[in-house]
Amino acid sequence: IPVEPFDLVIFGATGDLARRKILPGLFHRFRAGQMPPDAKIIGSARSDIDSAGFRELIAAAIGEFIPEELRPAELVSEFLNHLSYVHIDAMGETGWSELRGILRPEAVRTFYLSVSPSLFGAIAERLSHNDIATLESRIVVEKPFGHDLTSAQALNKDLLRHFDEQQIYRIDHYLGKETVQNLMALRFANSLFEPLWNSTHIDHVQITVAESIGVAGRGGYYDQSGAMRDMVQNHLMQLLCLIAMEPPSKFTSNSVRDEKVKVIEALEPVALDDIVRGQYRSGRDNQSYFDDVENANSRTESYIALKLAVGNWRWAGTPFYLRTGKQLRDRASEIAVVFKDPPHNIFPNKMEGRKGNALIIRLQPDEGITLRTTIKEPGPGGMRLTEVDMDMSFADALGDSLMSQDAYERLIMDVIRGDQTLFMRGDEVEAAWAWADPLIAAWEDANQRPVPYDPGSSGPEEALMLMHRGGRRWRPIG
Ligand code: BG6
Repeated sequence: IPVEPFDLVIFGATGDLARRKILPGLFHRFRAGQMPPDAKIIGSARSDIDSAGFRELIAAAIGEFIPEELRPAELVSEFLNHLSYVHIDAMGETGWSELRGILRPEAVRTFYLSVSPSLFGAIAERLSHNDIATLESRIVVEKPFGHDLTSAQALNKDLLRHFDEQQIYRIDHYLGKETVQNLMALRFANSLFEPLWNSTHIDHVQITVAESIGVAGRGGYYDQSGAMRDMVQNHLMQLLCLIAMEPPSKFTSNSVRDEKVKVIEALEPVALDDIVRGQYRSGRDNQSYFDDVENANSRTESYIALKLAVGNWRWAGTPFYLRTGKQLRDRASEIAVVFKDPPHNIFPNKMEGRKGNALIIRLQPDEGITLRTTIKEPGPGGMRLTEVDMDMSFADALGDSLMSQDAYERLIMDVIRGDQTLFMRGDEVEAAWAWADPLIAAWEDANQRPVPYDPGSSGPEEALMLMHRGGRRWRPIG
């Protein structure tokens, strides 16, 4: 379905995210016929190039990031016709009136800030003072949205001075992933799971976002953040919210986000003993965190595992284990909902190594759902039990093409449509920082150093112990 006419201004349009994700994403939507014929995409940055130079840059990006069979030359050149460029100095006065002249009064004006958060306030202010932003305009901001609660509050304040909350779209690209949205469909469009979705039936939940890449190339940013700020406060927190939240009464942005905020606010304080922070190390130079961030004294974690408790009626007594890290053995993200054992065993033969019922939602790669069930082992050996997986791959069931849509494609189109459901509200981001800040302060106060782990492993031994202490086990990564 084509969206309404829009003028999209991308600040930071010559940067990495714009070249890798935003513009290739827009090209895909153009190819799918979703872009109105008169849509304007206006790149802007400090680089002193012109529209022709910008089109060349984006043609090269499309060539680099989109497979050849998906980008026929005539389609690419039609797409490039939508592009123009204005040289703007975000902190100065250059370029703003030129931008105002290009924008059409009747089109939805969207300003995408793919720039450092330190520029959010300055750009918002200039958009407003130069009469470029209207009451219908939208502003999109990228992470990191703050470094802690105070800085997030300051960013919110800067944006809210010139835009209403309904105009602000804070991106968490995990919410644009097909399988992440599917969590809501799975929970709230089926009657099968909801009656079991509580601490009476669920022993624990494991949320894993494992990455095989390291931090080489972005060490400067990463060393100031670490896995907690880079992944847990935002992406894993969103996954936790979608798994733990109460059913919203309607599928509207505020009903959904109200329920998510309640989960974050219900999180119990976390003891330092329930947190494991790791750093990849090895004798081989190219695989040591210290080398990747060029800081041999760094205390920043490239891995973190935590045990959390959601203090509410539904979840009291069911721990949520979260883990994420770099340089792990595989790129694999999943949520495992592990059920309790049946209350009484009628079968005489004890099953060795029984793991129990589990619903495993694979987020990436090979998106799908697995239900681990116990059945009789076939054959004449009596009533022996074994476990099998009922396995569904979304690509097999629904086709590859739907699954391969990138998070950014969907999110940008949602902005144009004015749908905020998959974006973080200001209070949600602040609640997540209010939760994360004391944890970070606790390990900083304790002068804690992360424990080492081998690149290509499943993370530090200590993280296994965190699970073992509760008589549980992590699922293998990948
Ligand atoms: C980003 C983090 O937000 O998400 C990166 O800054 C991380 O460190 C990335 O690698 C992971 O995203 P995805 O979509 O590859 O799982």
